Amino acid sequence: MGKHSTASIPFQKRWPLMFLVLFSLSTAIVFFIRFSSDSSSCNTRNYEANTHQIQVGSFANPLNFMKSKLVLLVSHELSLSGGPLLLMELAFLLRGVGAEVVWITNQKPTEPDEVTYSLEHKMLDRGVQVVSAKGQKAIDTALKADLVILNTAVAGKWLDAVLKENVPRILPKVLWWIHEMRGHYFKVEYVKHLPFVAGAMIDSYTTAEYWKNRTRERLGIKMPETYVVHLGNSKELMEVAENSVAKRVLREHVRESLGVRNEDLLFAAINSVSRGKGQDLFLRSFHESLQLIQEKKLQVPSLHAVIVGSDMNAQTKFETELRNFVAEKKIQDRVHFVNKTLNVAPYLASIDVLVQNSQARGECFGRITIEAMAFQQPVLGTAAGGTMEIVVNGTTGWLHQAGKEGVTPLAENIVKMATHVERRLTMGKKGYERVKERFMEHHMSQRIALVLKEVLRKSNSRT
Ligand SMILES: *[C@@H]1O[C@H](CO)[C@@H](O)[C@H](O)[C@H]1NC(C)=O
Ligand SMILES: *[C@@H]1O[C@H](CO)[C@@H](O)[C@H](O)[C@H]1NC(C)=O
Ligand SMILES: *[C@@H]1O[C@H](CO)[C@@H](O)[C@H](O)[C@H]1NC(C)=O
Repeated sequence: MGKHSTASIPFQKRWPLMFLVLFSLSTAIVFFIRFSSDSSSCNTRNYEANTHQIQVGSFANPLNFMKSKLVLLVSHELSLSGGPLLLMELAFLLRGVGAEVVWITNQKPTEPDEVTYSLEHKMLDRGVQVVSAKGQKAIDTALKADLVILNTAVAGKWLDAVLKENVPRILPKVLWWIHEMRGHYFKVEYVKHLPFVAGAMIDSYTTAEYWKNRTRERLGIKMPETYVVHLGNSKELMEVAENSVAKRVLREHVRESLGVRNEDLLFAAINSVSRGKGQDLFLRSFHESLQLIQEKKLQVPSLHAVIVGSDMNAQTKFETELRNFVAEKKIQDRVHFVNKTLNVAPYLASIDVLVQNSQARGECFGRITIEAMAFQQPVLGTAAGGTMEIVVNGTTGWLHQAGKEGVTPLAENIVKMATHVERRLTMGKKGYERVKERFMEHHMSQRIALVLKEVLRKSNSRT
């Protein structure tokens, strides 16, 4: 994971330091800044800023009932990837209301790791206790805790390995937070205790449905009570997204560095490069859209595509395939590659359309989609997974099928975005409104609060 941050440093260095500090470019950097600020004031501000949007007519933090509760969070790893960062967000929301929070990382790198070290220290600074995954302290905390949250399917390995004969006593107070939708997670060794926990919390309805089917059909086990909790955008991301000066400056800088003019139309796929994320099919669609424009002699601005998430070292074969395609079709001046980075905000500020081309079952949720919508970007997405619960087809973007069948529809949608300027801008605005209505941090807090309340009630009645 250290690779992410080092790979992005040369690029960041080109940015004036001021912007790094002022506009907190990446979610990760944003996190660091947020970690080091005073937790209680941070939280108060959050709710003051958001009170006008809270529909329930209450000024109280929905998580207030967690005050003084002991919560054990078990993460399968500690890295800058989506799962652990999300659990850390929850740790800070809980700390913000005065809960006692203990963190365990089940799989640690064997060698000291800069990222793990820095994340642990951010947690310690915010009053989260970090304890070893194995040993008596972990067992005692699990026994004493009001609530144990396991993060991702893989974290299930921790139960037997550490708790051993105590497992049955802990299960009634376990909430299992699941963020994945791939076959290899349906291993008995990971999920055999799933039917006996208090509840499962899953990021989208599609993913919840998929887990229900697969556990039943593959493993013959039944899911526990399952709660769908859509995620929300952090307050820090929203601050950049709603700051027009910051956005303009970021847009100028990124476009200049890519060689894209202000009037050009920039379509972006922002995902780690891999076949599952569909950058290959996106480039085919993009090439087709250029051909369509030429054939029909359409008068539109120059179209550009940017792939943010390149990783030549980890994805050499696929990455080479992408570059070869671009060279073969002679569209090098139209297609840009940016290395994997957590600094997505500058790109979100610079593009005109987000392309979410995840294949097969699609994204479990797809946080980049709500992030792009916060920046008033319309989305061209595959009709799969969480994307279907975020993007309203025809209103906040257009959906196309996953797979090869989707290549031409996506090409046509790209052309439509170029020819229907008003429509495109309106879609961006509608996307922003949708985010403000349901994909903000305070919405996520409210949804999580309902689940935690229910799980506490159930585990109390069982003991
Ligand atoms: C789950 O199974 C039902 C019935 O077998 C089916 O209709 C549905 O499409 C399946 N859902 C998923 C996500 O596989
Ligand atoms: C992108 O990553 C490759 C290695 O994966 C590296 O050689 C290259 O210098 C990086 N580019 C930038 C701009 O950091
Ligand atoms: C999205 O809506 C368009 C019409 O606006 C329609 O042609 C297309 O089939 C829809 N896509 C999906 C996946 O429903």
